[in-house]
Parts: sequence; structure tokens; C-alpha cells
Amino acid sequence: MGVKEVDVHMTVGNGATSYANNSAHQKIGISKAKYVLDESLKEMFADDGFPDCFKMVDLGCSSGPNTLSVVAQIIGTILRVRRLNNVDELPEMEVFLNDLEGNDFNNLFKLLPSFYKKLKEATGNEAIRCFVSGLPGSFYGRLFPSKTLNFVYSSFSLQWLSKIPEGLEDNKENIHMAMASPPGIFEAYATQYRRDFTTFLTSRGQEMVRGGRMVLTFVGRSVEDPSTRDDCAHFTLLASSLIEMVNEGLVKESDLHSFNMPIYTPSKQEVEGVIHNEGSFNLEKFEPFLVPWDAHVKHEDHTRGRISQLGAEGSVPDHIRGKLVSDFIRAYTEPVLASHFGSSIIDNLYGRYAKKLAEYLAREQPSFFNIIICLSKK
Ligand SMILES: C[S@@+](CC[C@H](N)C(=O)[O-])C[C@H]1O[C@@H](n2cnc3c(N)ncnc32)[C@H](O)[C@@H]1O
Repeated sequence: MGVKEVDVHMTVGNGATSYANNSAHQKIGISKAKYVLDESLKEMFADDGFPDCFKMVDLGCSSGPNTLSVVAQIIGTILRVRRLNNVDELPEMEVFLNDLEGNDFNNLFKLLPSFYKKLKEATGNEAIRCFVSGLPGSFYGRLFPSKTLNFVYSSFSLQWLSKIPEGLEDNKENIHMAMASPPGIFEAYATQYRRDFTTFLTSRGQEMVRGGRMVLTFVGRSVEDPSTRDDCAHFTLLASSLIEMVNEGLVKESDLHSFNMPIYTPSKQEVEGVIHNEGSFNLEKFEPFLVPWDAHVKHEDHTRGRISQLGAEGSVPDHIRGKLVSDFIRAYTEPVLASHFGSSIIDNLYGRYAKKLAEYLAREQPSFFNIIICLSKK
């Protein structure tokens, strides 16, 4: 089954369960990766100078506050580097926001007037000419004419595969590459990943100009052998919520047995191996960093006025942490699950999931193992 058939878009709109309102966790990851982004841009301009028109794309931009904040950050860096280098001319910028066709581009476009206004206020006389457009389509294939892109950015999108790998029939009660998966499952996932990441690099290799940079942040795996450590325990807990519902007759067993997430978390060696074998790029930087599952919880408490529910010492009770971690994982997994199991089970499923997450967070301090890489086009 292809990814489009299982509907890989984030939850649309501005509602309580939307990605736009539940992407504070990714925002923390984006800010941790900020210095790599800044350094990469500086190095690119130091090597090649400023182009007359700087063309960039955010691949898998989704729809929410994170999308345009990254563009604003890139513009800020360009202006700083330009001042440091005493460059008078301001480059024009063409920014493409890319995602799959089901993405909520309308919601994103509604944020543009305030983005342009803030940009003008922040940069005053230096207001940079920035032209933003939406670009629907899969990044596992060509999106641009040859040799036209200067810079490619992507955060928290590349862990999505182009399709569910073939050969997962034996992965019955698991919904991803879990520690309990039979051995052939790992290879089936890894094969799909190598194919997809190679296609991704070859497409960008054709679209980018020589010396152009690509900064990619994605969720990775801390160990080479996926059977030795469960870096995706959040999916294992989601699977156990589904098993519970099968046992209560609320979900069909055959539906559970035929469901697998089209997500892959590669190890350092796998990422390096594909880049080396594909051959279009040099790997300039590789920086792993951890973000706790509940890193966004304090932030969310403030933004949603949930302060009144804080515990005596100001700590956030486990049941609220469980709910807020469930909310953020729901915003990116709900469409895929709803298209397979039907939307009627969704509230019940994530209610159970929040409880399991709360119990887990009470005894463990889990983190996502994220990877940021910078590549330069040969
Ligand atoms: C978790 S969101 C990340 C959004 C945003 N970049 C951020 O950091 O907050 C992942 C996005 O990747 C998009 N995506 C997944 N596969 C894709 C593909 N093959 N081509 C383009 N976008 C894709 C999804 O639709 C989703 O919007």
C-alpha cells in the first residue's frame, strides 16, 4: 500500500488536535538545530558568495507556525552574513514550501500576510524581496528544474518512507520496526529506506547548483542493531493500545496485523552509507541530539493556560504529561491510523495511549534520538 493511500498528512486546520497547534515539540528540535543551519549558510556564502536570487525549499513543511519561523530564521542569517561581508546588494529570495498534496496549504497561505508584515518590521529599510510559493508533490522524486536550487531545508519529514515496505506480513502485533519484530522485518524496512533516501539524494543532486547546501533534521536511531534497543517505544505503546482494543473487540485483529507505520529511523552508519554510495553530496556535518518526549510540556502548559493543573511544586502531573505527549504524536499519526482503522476508534485509541504514556513517563525518561546533517552538492 502506498503512502498516499494511507494518507501521510498532518492533522489539518487550527483545532485542538491539529499539527499547527501540536508542533511545539518539533519547534524545540528545530531550535536545537539552529546553529548547524546558521553555520551551513555562512559556509555556503563564504565559499560561493551571494547569488542574485537565492532559491530555497522547505521539504515536508507541513502547516503551522514552525514553517515560516524557519524561513524567517534563514532570512535573518542571510542579512547578518551579508552585513559581515559588507555586501551592499540584497539578494532576492524565492522560497518554496513543499509537502504532499493532502497538506493544509490553505492554512499556511493564511499565515503569509502576517509573515511579510513582520519581515518588513524586523528588517526595516533592509526589507528583503522574498517570494513564497507552495509546491505540492513528493520529495521522493524531481520537484525542480535542473541546477536551480541553492539551499534545501527539511525538518522532521525524512523519517517518512515513500511507501509501506514490502514483506511485513509477519510483523503482526507490531506497527513498526519494533524490538519484538521478527528479523526479516528490519531488513524489509532498511531496504525501503535505502531506496527512498537514494532517490531523494539523486533528485536533489540534479536540482541543486554546485556548492549548494542541504540541511536535514530527522528522527534517527541511536544503535546500529534495532533489536538491541527500542528507540521507538512510543510506537510500541501505541501498538499495545491497539492490541487492547482488539482484545475488547473494538478493532479487528486482521486490521492490526496488516498495519505498519511507513516511518524509518536510520542509524548513523546507514545515513553515511547511502550518502557515500549515491555520490552526489559531501557530508559536511553530522550532529545527533536528544529531545525528551515531554520537552514541550512546560511550553504547552503556558500556551494553553494549563498552569492551574500543575502539581504542588510546579511539576506537571504524569497524566497531563501523558496527554500532551499523546497530543503531539496524534497530530502526525492520526491521519495514517484513521485511514486504516477508521476514524471512529481514534478518540478511544489516543485516550488509552495517553494513559500508557503517563505510566511510562512516570518510570522512564525517554528521548527522541534526532540527527541533523549538512550536505554540500559536489
Ligand atoms: C512532522 S511533519 C514536519 C513539519 C515541519 N517541517 C516541522 O518541522 O514542524 C512531517 C511532514 O512531512 C511531510 N511528508 C512526508 N512524506 C513526504 C514526501 N514524500 N514529500 C513531501 N512531504 C512529505 C508530511 O506530509 C508532513 O507534513
